[in-house]
Amino acid sequence: MKIAVLTGAGVSAESGIKTFRDSDGLWEGHDVMEVASPEGFKRNPEVVLDFYNQRRRQLLTVQPNAAHRVLAALEKTHEVTIITQNVDDLHERAGSTNVIHLHGELLKVRSTFDEDLVLDWKEDLNLGDFCENNHQLRPHIVWFGEMVPMIEVAADVVAQVDSIIIVGTSMQVYPAAGLVQYAKPDAHIYFVDPKPSISESKRITVFTEKASTGVPKVVALLK
Ligand code: APR
Repeated sequence: MKIAVLTGAGVSAESGIKTFRDSDGLWEGHDVMEVASPEGFKRNPEVVLDFYNQRRRQLLTVQPNAAHRVLAALEKTHEVTIITQNVDDLHERAGSTNVIHLHGELLKVRSTFDEDLVLDWKEDLNLGDFCENNHQLRPHIVWFGEMVPMIEVAADVVAQVDSIIIVGTSMQVYPAAGLVQYAKPDAHIYFVDPKPSISESKRITVFTEKASTGVPKVVALLK
């Protein structure tokens, strides 16, 4: 059985990484266009680099939670593709081997001149950190207004799976939020979120609870 798992910030909330739109979300204190847009980076690169340095440092101190681990274990019995809006590496650290990052990766940076020049990067990134061709490096993150290069690949996956598990996303940011439209008519959809943004129907089963308890319940149903 083929499964696509669409995850958002909520799947990492119990690992200690703040979500974006919950009350104490990440954007508080930061205008999102100031720290997550090309204009913001041009206007004030230090503020943007510092915002991602804080998030990168925090990521190195947290661990995957039960939801990440159960989804990784699901690969033993099913063909699983994780399609995440998250930029953390917690799915990979939990053992998932097939992860599509729609919005980039916090532990990678790329050349501001050649977007295909991508480097692994675990320490702070500052002005003056250049690529091999002497261009400033930037976070390998999809900022607001930028293209989502993996969206077609992700849509192709969703169009072929038998079940879709959606975990911890407010379904407010497109094109990621639109992926579920590509599901086959007979594909069943499972939605895990304490404040679900879609409602139960014949083809949608909603678990109004946290990822760490809801995801194991969905996986148990699929086994
Ligand atoms: N378990 C499961 N879901 C949770 C938990 C939890 N413990 N805690 C919060 N949630 C849910 C919230 O109810 C909400 O529906 O996670 C969702 C978080 O929504 P957002 O903060 O909007 O995060 P997300 O949907 O991933 O945002 C999408 O927006 O800011 C951009 O690029 C950024 O990738 C991000 C995108």
